[in-house]
Amino acid sequence: MKRYVELLLNWFYENKRDLPWRKATNPYHVWISEVMLQQTRIDKVISYYEKFIEKIPDIKSLSEISDDKLLKLWEGLGYYSRARNLKKAAIKIMNDFHGEFPNNYADILSLPGVGEYTAGAIASVCFQLPEVAIDGNTMRVYCRLCDLDLDISNLQVKKAIANKIRNILPENPGDFNQAIMELGETICLPNGHPKCLECPFCYSCSAHLNQRETLIPRKIISSQKLEEEYTLFLIKYKNKYALHKRKTDLLKNMWEFPNEPGFLTYDEIKEKFKNSTFIKIGITNTHLFSHKKWFMNSYFIEVQDQMNEYVWATIEEIESNYAIPTAFMPFLAYIKTK
Ligand code: ADE
Repeated sequence: MKRYVELLLNWFYENKRDLPWRKATNPYHVWISEVMLQQTRIDKVISYYEKFIEKIPDIKSLSEISDDKLLKLWEGLGYYSRARNLKKAAIKIMNDFHGEFPNNYADILSLPGVGEYTAGAIASVCFQLPEVAIDGNTMRVYCRLCDLDLDISNLQVKKAIANKIRNILPENPGDFNQAIMELGETICLPNGHPKCLECPFCYSCSAHLNQRETLIPRKIISSQKLEEEYTLFLIKYKNKYALHKRKTDLLKNMWEFPNEPGFLTYDEIKEKFKNSTFIKIGITNTHLFSHKKWFMNSYFIEVQDQMNEYVWATIEEIESNYAIPTAFMPFLAYIKTK
């Protein structure tokens, strides 16, 4: 195994990507990047990361940022509870750790939004602590190297792999953790075809030698997504549009166009907006969340009076000050054509 670890590290030192958070091992930078990377691909994260660090350069400024500004910086990245937890964690660091990022695994793990993977990544990369950081990439690479036909969504399997990897951690655990993830992201690809001919383990990977690399890890059919229907009201008063702040858990505190569950008919809309001067059927959109699927219809409605229950903003104001979830972005593009 020692030889494998050496081979992996050599490959990493020669091929690692020049990522902005790798310039130094500042725990604030590594933390923000790892949280962004939890559910998002590296190429998408880079521009968000750079803007985030420019606008919120340290833990203190993160602990003091307004929720609206924070969500605006996160707009389009999805899984917005990650952003809310970053701020909660920054407040905890200011209160409990004198504003210094904690330097041991247990304290790092105690921060809101930081799970075992993220704690292991920060502890190993920033503090050279012998901790593993097991994500889907690491498990796929490990299972292929050993030709193990396992269900990597199973927690017991994850624990077993973590134990095996903990036993082979070298003196530079941060480089090792990043190397195995990097191999998974750039060579040992999940779907379609891994680039086995470019892999340092081309002649030693058991799955590749047995021609089973595309069968591992075992595919698990995910459960059906919950389907929901909504009707959106794109309500215009002069040059402003009605916005509403979400109160429900999903996309909490982000801004949306007013809406109701179900598909309302044209007559129902006319009845609901009696004070409207113009109603037109708008565009539709479908949006996939990890566990839900939304089908959205819309109506473009012009009104004579502002309704008090909404906040009213011009398109320029919406674009610069209000965090709009990706699900609603096509409707923003649509009203720009009006
Ligand atoms: N994916 C998530 N975090 C990573 C890191 N630090 N290096 C390489 N790939 C990653």
